[in-house]
Amino acid sequence: MNELDELRVRLAVCDEQILECLLKRNAIVEDIMKYKEAHNMRIIQPDQEKRQLKILRETLKGQKHEKEIIDTFARINYNSKRIQARHLFNYNIFLIGFMGSGKSTITDYLSTMFAMKSVEMDAVISRREGMSISDIFAEFGEEYFRNLETNLLIELQAKSNVVVSCGGGVPMRENNVAEMKKNGRVVLLTARPETIYERVKDSHDRPLLEHNKNVPYISELMAKRKEKYEAAADIIVETDNKDELQICEEMVQKLLEMDGKSI
Ligand code: S3P
Repeated sequence: MNELDELRVRLAVCDEQILECLLKRNAIVEDIMKYKEAHNMRIIQPDQEKRQLKILRETLKGQKHEKEIIDTFARINYNSKRIQARHLFNYNIFLIGFMGSGKSTITDYLSTMFAMKSVEMDAVISRREGMSISDIFAEFGEEYFRNLETNLLIELQAKSNVVVSCGGGVPMRENNVAEMKKNGRVVLLTARPETIYERVKDSHDRPLLEHNKNVPYISELMAKRKEKYEAAADIIVETDNKDELQICEEMVQKLLEMDGKSI
């Protein structure tokens, strides 16, 4: 055997060891999930992730290929989260609620925590049409936009384990709700009109609020939508005075309760 062949054999042995370790590691990740479920513990523990990274950085300090190894571990960590997510949610999670109820923020947070793919409906529609939501409303009208929303929901049937941030008007059509429920759970985020006002007052991408950014208008539109929002929801999470972690924890807990699991 020449030197190169020998090196390749040694590399293959390393790969085998890595593979064996990864299989072991993934099994441990699953056991941790089971332990947390059995002991009613919090599933989301961002501090634990930070602790792991800190230990890794300290261990690697000054070593060769520090950056590449940290990058490899980030990927390992990402895939552990995916294993968790697939174990917990074998369906899509649709976030509904009034404009400014926190759908986009919570979608980002949840999808990061569980390494889930996410879809921001308004952003997808706007990208595909090559114009802002306000321009779509102005040029083609609301009905046209609503049809794009329905078509996108139908398209999402092909995906699973995705977090979807819906436009605020999505639950107003009954067939949209039926589409979401085919392979998903619907989570309603709520907030007081005063909170909504504070969150939307400086933005200009919501045509329905553009000249109506005041608490009485928001309250009125919210009241008109309340019944349909609540009828669509599998679970409801209030967002006033809570941070992203608290909202996601409550949401995960309620979703697991629906499956007879609890944390
Ligand atoms: C709408 C909400 C908006 C956007 C459009 C119409 C609505 O989405 O889809 O402006 O009817 O409530 P956000 O709720 O994400 O702001």
